[in-house]
Amino acid sequence: MTHSDRSADHKTPLETRRCRPLSGTVRVPGDKSISHRALILGALAVGESRVSGLLEGEDVLNTAKAVRALGASIERTGNFAWSVRGVGVAGFAEPNSPLDFGNSGTGCRLVMGAVAGSPITATFDGDASLRSRPMRRVLDPLEMIGARVVAGEQGGRLPLTLVGARDPLPIIYRTPVASAQIKSAVLLAGLAAPGVTTVIESEASRDHTELMLRHFGADIVSEPEGPHGRRIALTGQSELHGAEVVVPADPSSAAFPIVAALIVKGSDLVLSDVMINPLRTGLFTTLREMGGQIEQSDLRNDAGEPMARLRVRSSRLRGVEVPPERAPSMIDEYLVLAVAAGFAEGTTIMRGLHELRVKESDRLEATAAMLRVNGVKAEISADDLIVEGTGHVQGGGLVASHMDHRIAMSALVMGLAADKPVKADDTSFIATSFPDFIPMMRAIGAEFS
Ligand code: S3P
Repeated sequence: MTHSDRSADHKTPLETRRCRPLSGTVRVPGDKSISHRALILGALAVGESRVSGLLEGEDVLNTAKAVRALGASIERTGNFAWSVRGVGVAGFAEPNSPLDFGNSGTGCRLVMGAVAGSPITATFDGDASLRSRPMRRVLDPLEMIGARVVAGEQGGRLPLTLVGARDPLPIIYRTPVASAQIKSAVLLAGLAAPGVTTVIESEASRDHTELMLRHFGADIVSEPEGPHGRRIALTGQSELHGAEVVVPADPSSAAFPIVAALIVKGSDLVLSDVMINPLRTGLFTTLREMGGQIEQSDLRNDAGEPMARLRVRSSRLRGVEVPPERAPSMIDEYLVLAVAAGFAEGTTIMRGLHELRVKESDRLEATAAMLRVNGVKAEISADDLIVEGTGHVQGGGLVASHMDHRIAMSALVMGLAADKPVKADDTSFIATSFPDFIPMMRAIGAEFS
């Protein structure tokens, strides 16, 4: 079953209750952002790329299917080990059916960029959640490069058909919002353009595309721009060469057991190989400011991304103010941070959350609703979320998951320490990013029913 087939009949509700201390050592699955990029860059490279630690979640598997339909050879060679033989920059073949990205904005928008630099036509589609998300933000720069939208795209939404540029133009593009997906789409299209494609961002977003492009042999330079931004310049029309990619554990997935260990009394949990790229670790910074005990050791840098072992012990948390400029480095983590904020003493103010409205669901509204239904006071004021923590959470609520994996996981984490059980109405979308979430959480002491 693909996500696009999922309907209300397939909902999988699940409940958690207060549990004993969480303990043990776990490795959460491979980073989702890096996994998508490894497959896409592998597909655009000449020769073989070997990827280990790939996230075998539904989002990434949909990207694998898409790049296979575009002509790359992709083979699973072992557990989380994949081999990709690419077609070369601009070498994609025309797919003979629509590319279905299921729930994944990253897979869809990055492949749009790669298709925009190839002289082919492809139709992009996804599930109801992805069909509701804005695509204009990516199509605008891709049209400047020379791609055309020829069908669909009502109001900038999927399904839509894109004709790639025969002669892509190098552009200078200032991203209107801090978005690694927009930046990456432009850079992937720019691979096929003669000369230098430049992306300027006023707030730096995750830089995995830049790091991995360099690892695959691209000529790419990134320099600071203003107080928080970056200017990235890529020289196009040179080949990428197949490379080895070691995918570290995903900090956005690690966020769930980490917050669980902080709020469940007596917990002491170790997470290995967690990627700690500074453009992804805003949550860890914030949790430490709240009083969370998160110790880092065994720092390594394999294949261009820093990773470490994290030891987390349950902690008394206090409310803090999270500045808006931190948002890009923790954009996927506000839901679970809001859970921590509910258990903290005092007010937590999270500022500048407008981008949360266009994720897998409207996460700003969904976060407030998740808290309120479980007895936590939460208020949205313009783009800010204000949570009144009282040191404990009543629980007892039924949380609407809205086809969003991170809502379901956040609700289940909340239930592990709340006074009464917490239920998520549909946990099936957890498989998009963290297929082993439930068995892994059970293994460290969580109870689900
Ligand atoms: C991602 C970028 C972010 C993030 C998403 C993954 C990526 O989206 O929310 O989960 O891998 O590039 P935006 O680029 O829309 O901020």
